[in-house]
Amino acid sequence: MYSKETTKQLQKVTAELLKKDPASLTKKELEALRSALRFHEYRYYILNDPLVADFEYDQLYKALEKIEGLDPGLITPDSPTQRVAKGLTKDFPNAPHLVPMLSLDNSYNSDDLLDFDRKARELTGLNVIEYCVEPKFDGGSISLVYENDILVRGATRGDGVEGDEVTTNIKQIRSLPLSAKFSDYGLQVVEIRGEVLINKTNFAKYNQHLIEQGLAPLANPRNAAAGTLRIKDPAEVAKRNLEAFVYHVSYYSLARGKKIPAELTSHAASLKMLWDLGFRSPEREKKVFKGMEGVIRHCSEFEVKRDNLPYEIDGMVIKVNDLALQDKLGMTSHHPRWAIACKFKARQGTSKLLNVEFQVGRTGSITPVAKIQPVPIGGVTVSSVSLFNEEVIREKDLKIGDTVLVERAGDVIPYIVKSLADARSGKEKKIIFPKTCPVCNSPLFKEEEEAVWRCINIECPAQVVERIIHFVSKDAMDIRGLGDANVRKFYDLGLIKDIPGIYTLDFNKIGTMEGFGQKSIDNLQAAILHSKKQPLHRLLFALGIRFVGETTAKTLAQAINHLLDLKKFSPEQLQGLEDVGPKVAGSIYHFFSNKNNIDILEQLEKLGLQLKNQKKELSAAGNLKGQTFLFTGTLPTLKRSDAEAMVEENGGQILTGVSTKLNYLVVGEDAGSKLEKAKKINTVRIISEAEFLQMIRKK
Ligand code: IVH
Repeated sequence: MYSKETTKQLQKVTAELLKKDPASLTKKELEALRSALRFHEYRYYILNDPLVADFEYDQLYKALEKIEGLDPGLITPDSPTQRVAKGLTKDFPNAPHLVPMLSLDNSYNSDDLLDFDRKARELTGLNVIEYCVEPKFDGGSISLVYENDILVRGATRGDGVEGDEVTTNIKQIRSLPLSAKFSDYGLQVVEIRGEVLINKTNFAKYNQHLIEQGLAPLANPRNAAAGTLRIKDPAEVAKRNLEAFVYHVSYYSLARGKKIPAELTSHAASLKMLWDLGFRSPEREKKVFKGMEGVIRHCSEFEVKRDNLPYEIDGMVIKVNDLALQDKLGMTSHHPRWAIACKFKARQGTSKLLNVEFQVGRTGSITPVAKIQPVPIGGVTVSSVSLFNEEVIREKDLKIGDTVLVERAGDVIPYIVKSLADARSGKEKKIIFPKTCPVCNSPLFKEEEEAVWRCINIECPAQVVERIIHFVSKDAMDIRGLGDANVRKFYDLGLIKDIPGIYTLDFNKIGTMEGFGQKSIDNLQAAILHSKKQPLHRLLFALGIRFVGETTAKTLAQAINHLLDLKKFSPEQLQGLEDVGPKVAGSIYHFFSNKNNIDILEQLEKLGLQLKNQKKELSAAGNLKGQTFLFTGTLPTLKRSDAEAMVEENGGQILTGVSTKLNYLVVGEDAGSKLEKAKKINTVRIISEAEFLQMIRKK
């Protein structure tokens, strides 16, 4: 897409644009700005190899927004700002596909594939057929139309003849270009097909977020991706970080006088064309083979790699490479005769629902867990499956004794797809949700907009144990050697009653217990001691305050000097912090208004835990304490972002513009208007990078 030279050129353009005050950018610089932004989106979303820091991208993006805001006549439909949509979508209009969106024929073993090859050879009269093989992405299929290089429509598959028009949602997918130079290939209207995905990491993050909100997590990345396309709030769609692969040109019209380009004579070449146009096609994953033997080998080799990929695939797709041959082979009403899917081993199995147990979580949430007859799925024996909440049981109409279909996709926790109602004998029993906590017997409560019932007895032993388990977990205080089983054991024996109890453990007593040698006791003691030094944000996360995940914990820690400062924050003040909404603010406020919680925190401080924000103390003591800085021009050795981080680490502050508040302007090559402005203010000291570095090194 971008040659080495263009890349260099665009980096230079970026550096120049970054030096400029956004307000001073001219209309002429507008296209350069857009090109630079598109280039950086490509580096980030397609190549996964960004060349600028996030804040630098944001700086450019904001500059573009500003210029376009001043004169909306300058906005183009493919401007990087045009992905963002405000407001809600009313309905998704019908979108007839230019060419029907067919399904694929499936194969499950090498005989099926050899059969497919034999038929294709018979129909074409050829001895050997060339195939292109690529992954079968497991998401939601989409169809995109580009007219005169501009994305004009995005649609879901629907019934294959017409789908839903979801253009605004599709535009939230940063790996799909809003414009692509199809005209360079003589093409006017182009319809392309692809798959929308949510990668495994983003899926897990999103589910974590749902769980924290007391909602049921989504079953698998496939449902998450397909479902997201039909959300009526594009801003919510943008938050889910969808990705897309495109793998098929289903229709094109040629511009007047143009011939079919060589890129549209083979499937492999069309993937390369799409890649060169800035799409994420399986250009790097595809492989071409003469005959079926190599294909079969390749498919089984790829299956092994399946779990290492960042996204889900459920097989491979084998396509006749020559597009003229594809035409010759044609299609049935269901699938093309020129392609076949080779499905990987199913990650589903059937089992019997034996019983439902109800577990109490850290925040008192009651989770129904189905105990099923052990069934091997994808190499793992599954005997326990979370049902998430009462609604899931109702929606899926599950009964004890039911035969159930269970799925385990990749890293995803196993779940029940459905019960097989036809297999019922009539003896199945209704699942009864408890009215009281299965552990402490207190009555259960459910908030109106929540799907989860909760035990609100803060002393509930199940909750206390879960809170301790969370406190010691890897991402929290990271106390190794004190895993789930030991916490439960120590709690049952009365060795730990609450979180401070971790720090007063009787190691002599533990020493007398079976399975605890001197070495494991030494290790445990060291791990507990080490945890006292964990930074404040970890401690904040470890407390298990509802809705306070790792990110919010970091935000909170940055805003305070001492953990108990949070006692003084009102819900409104809390909402002033980044990404803290009313729900999160309410929960934090509630936590710090509870005397018991404050007692626990005071005990922890006495026991030697770090409640002070050490980072802040460090920077307050830094060499640049109280000084303000601004950088301009290209620095000889430092990256701008690194230099700015150094200022903050040493107690200094970065300003956004030249003013009388500024103490130091650090000047690099090609410094522009900021330098001129600074020269006019007597109090601003203009220094070089070397002088700046010396200030930091000074003791
Ligand atoms: S080609 C005319 N290639 O699988 C056939 N499909 O089970 C066009 N899929 O509806 C489809 N990865 O949504 C093709 N590399 C790939 C694919 C792929 C996933 C989906 C597609 C299709 C479904 C059929």
